[in-house]
Formats: sequence, structure tokens, C-alpha cells
Amino acid sequence: ADGTIEIPVVFNVIYNTAAQNISNARIAEQIAILNADYAASNSDISKIPAEFKPAAAGNVKISFKLVATNRKQSPKTAWRSDLEEMKKATTGGINATDPTKNMNIWVVNSILNENSQPGTLGYAYYPEVAGLWYDGLVIGYQYIGKTGASAPFNLGRTTTHEVGHYLNLPHLWGSTDAGCQTDYSNDTPASPGANLGTPSYPLNRTCGGVSRSQMFMNYMDYVDDKAMFMFSANQKTRMQAVVAAAGPRAGLR
Ligand code: ARG
Ligand code: ZN
Ligand code: CA
Repeated sequence: ADGTIEIPVVFNVIYNTAAQNISNARIAEQIAILNADYAASNSDISKIPAEFKPAAAGNVKISFKLVATNRKQSPKTAWRSDLEEMKKATTGGINATDPTKNMNIWVVNSILNENSQPGTLGYAYYPEVAGLWYDGLVIGYQYIGKTGASAPFNLGRTTTHEVGHYLNLPHLWGSTDAGCQTDYSNDTPASPGANLGTPSYPLNRTCGGVSRSQMFMNYMDYVDDKAMFMFSANQKTRMQAVVAAAGPRAGLR
């Protein structure tokens, strides 16, 4: 009644050891975290600095509902992000459940980059690939939910961040590593690159010779889970456009 769009979510859990086969309770925790973060009902929302309160999104009016959980044992101990083998049964993975209608999340034991190096917590695709077989999110099992998750990424915010990408949000510094590029949100200050750990506010950094107070507590930065707790109003507008009736992910509605 308040116009909230509910996205159906399918979890595809691919595990080697039993510990990697995360529980239904842990998946439920993750869904609850997404619903809190996207409704701005997260308990740490009060930490937004006064400077950024006028830019805060408030309720994004996008919610998440678990509709299926698929599980598969695999001999693989790591998965390369560029090969996408976790997303096809023919390559040892689990096929997406209709990605035009569902947000698929593959949970794997370890994510490697194209040079087979570890360090990626999760990744996702922008709406430009909407409906393709590899559309969706991939998240390391260590970063799903809270109970048993790996500090400092144990508040489920890797998934909050990756859903942001899925809903067309770049990083605050733009979509390439160059930094100081647009993120198409005028209410997030320009940023030269990722902030890590738990920065103290205020933190000023420079783009184009202009120093700006950084909105490092935004979900689209790289700080620790406990240091990120907001989307901006312009980010909300971008995400709503994606799930709107004429948007690229209208099939989720
Ligand atoms: N794609 C990013 C990475 O793999 C995710 C960062 C998530 N940050 C977080 N605090 N959970 O590094
Ligand atoms: Zn990211
Ligand atoms: Ca911006």
C-alpha cells in the first residue's frame, strides 16, 4: 500500500564442506538485513552525521522475499568470477531460477578473480544484463547473514552492497578504479576511491582540486560492515527507476 516493490529472491548454495552449507536461519538473517537496510530501519541509521542527514534516502521502498533455496554439493574449493561456472549445472553449478522474475544469489566457498587471486567478498551485475543466465549476485558464504559470519564483514552488508550494484548503483568513486568519476548521484560527494576499515568522521578527500567531506558510511563504499549504514536520496531514485514498470528489472515486480 505504501508502494514498496517486493523482489523475489532465490538462494543457490554450492558447498564443499558441511560448514559452507549455510543454514536456512542464516539465509533468513540475510533477508532480514536486506529488508532493514533498504527500509532504513537498520538500528545504526542514527549514526548518519548531521551533514548527511538531508541527503539520506529514508525508506527505499524495495523489499525482499525468499522464494526458494537450492543446494548442491561440489568438489570445487574456489570459483573464478569471470568463468561463472557456479551459474550453470553443466559446469558444476546451479542454473538461475528465471532471472527476469527473481534475484538469484549464488553462495560459494571462495571467489577468485580472473588471475585466480582471492579477496573478493561478492560481485553482481548492473541491470544492463537483466535476464541473462549469469544475472544476479555471487557472495562468499562467510559474508552471508550474521551468525557465524566473518568479522569485520559479519553484518550482511556485502549483500546490501551487491544488491546496490544489481539496482544500478556504482561505487561512490564511479564504476572504474580511476576514481573521481560520476556515480550519477549528485548528493554523494565525489570520491577518489575506496575507503576501508572504520574511518573517523569527518574525512576529507580531493577530486579535481576540491576537497570534500566523504560519505564513507554509504553502502556503496568499501568500509567494514559496521561502518556503513545509509543510501542517499539520489541512490534511491536510481534504484526505484530500475524496478519501475518501465524499468529494466520490471519483471521482478
Ligand atoms: N565487491 C566488494 C568486494 O568484494 C564488496 C565490498 C563489501 N563491503 C562490505 N563492507 N561488506 O570487495
Ligand atoms: Zn562493489
Ligand atoms: Ca556523487
